[in-house]
Amino acid sequence: MTRLKIKEILKTGKTGTKTLAKGWVRTKRGSKNVNFIALNDGSTIHNLQVVADTGKFDEQLLREINTGAALAVEGTLAESQGTGQNVELMAEKIELLGKADPEKYPIQPKKHTLEFLRENAHLRFRTNTFGAVFRIRHAMAFAIHKYFNEKGFYYLHTPIITASDAEGAGQMFRVSTLDAVNPPLTEDGKPDYSKDFFGRPTNLTVSGQLEGELGALALGEIYTFGPTFRAENSNTTRHLAEFWMIEPEMAFYDLKDNMDLAEEFLKYLINYALEHCIDDLNFLADRLKQEEKNKPQDQRSMDLVEKLQFVLNSEFVRITYTEAIEILKNSNPYKKNKFQFPVDWGVDLQSEHERFLVEKHFKCPVILTDYPRDIKAFYMKQNDDDKTVRAMDVLFPQIGEIIGGSQREEVLEKLEARMKEMDIPAEEMWWYLDTRRFGSVVHSGFGLGFERFVQFVTGMGNIRDVIAFPRTPKNAEF
Ligand code: 4AD
Ligand code: MG
Repeated sequence: MTRLKIKEILKTGKTGTKTLAKGWVRTKRGSKNVNFIALNDGSTIHNLQVVADTGKFDEQLLREINTGAALAVEGTLAESQGTGQNVELMAEKIELLGKADPEKYPIQPKKHTLEFLRENAHLRFRTNTFGAVFRIRHAMAFAIHKYFNEKGFYYLHTPIITASDAEGAGQMFRVSTLDAVNPPLTEDGKPDYSKDFFGRPTNLTVSGQLEGELGALALGEIYTFGPTFRAENSNTTRHLAEFWMIEPEMAFYDLKDNMDLAEEFLKYLINYALEHCIDDLNFLADRLKQEEKNKPQDQRSMDLVEKLQFVLNSEFVRITYTEAIEILKNSNPYKKNKFQFPVDWGVDLQSEHERFLVEKHFKCPVILTDYPRDIKAFYMKQNDDDKTVRAMDVLFPQIGEIIGGSQREEVLEKLEARMKEMDIPAEEMWWYLDTRRFGSVVHSGFGLGFERFVQFVTGMGNIRDVIAFPRTPKNAEF
């Protein structure tokens, strides 16, 4: 008999048909005569209820059907007696594929904290919460490719190992095969990178953008979607040392086109989640409601599904950084000294400021543009005021910055001048500058932090809970 996935059985299974299901036991309960086994195979948030009459099976076998054990169950589908499902499986043959010692198996059917599950990240996929999160994460990755493919963008695989620092922030992980203890030395006693694998210092990429621009300025519209690495020592709920980023880059797009694309893209993904992941979203929405039960009414957040619908239907507010500073300076928290970080034209906005604008002031997603050039990367298009650049950050409720992007400086002389000011070695970037020497055009792009986006869609508070095996300072287990 061929196995059917539980998702399929629950959706299309007909009473009276013989069926084979395989999966892991979530719970077993029952009486002396009958056992109810909740079986899950990862295909859906819902379990298949297996009914096993005690008399029909070996006592030892029944004793070993514990939470976490893997089973193959053959039987006949019957109308369900009130499990919330249409059908249940009346077991005729049960094979114990893999035991799980109840004394030792950590994921028992009770409420575990997310911290505990993080320490057991190798097994946390077996919980409802993480099953839902990773199914949604998959659906979002798929929808990203679908969106860009439909729009005629090409998926460009930019390198993971690079010699350049795209963001110029210097937060890179070195890639080297030199002996870490006794590296070969140059005459002045420094590590001799000419002897290294690539004959020069290299690192893990912080962004695929620069190579993405090379592609866009020939292929028209491209996107990268890959892992990026930042050695920033930020222990927050929104930072990872290894995260995935989606970076579209488009020739002939100015900042407005860039904003339009970002807004349409985010809404497409949210709509896809609502259309394809509603069971998982409903589960996560309930979970959040439970979690918030103890909070005072006014601190509770919007229902997860309502929140997604709300963002889908709202028009993102678009204002300049300068306007945002004005708003913040006139705000109550500013006047009452409630902000932890300073607000002044020229400072980088902190998450508390971003969230004030989005959650309190506008109550919808906000796109901030035209940031001071001194707090942004060298490649951004300079405005005529000599102070600001055509940057855009998309700010989301609960997350803050979810997208960072800009129109790019396409004028060779301006780009060179800016690089000089910022001490970026132009000789090493000759290939980047060549695009401005030959057939340079207006172009733009942005980067969406995949995990921050998955956090938004799933409502998970900590970024460590939306990536399978998080990499954060002092943590690379699994
Ligand atoms: O704003 P960032 O640094 O922009 C870039 O890297 C540009 N090269 C993108 C581009 O224009 N092609 O990063 C983009 C996004 C942020 O808005 C945030 O969502 C996410 O990447 N991000 C992180 N996510 C998790 N952990 C971190 N440490 C992150 N740093 C940035
Ligand atoms: Mg940014």
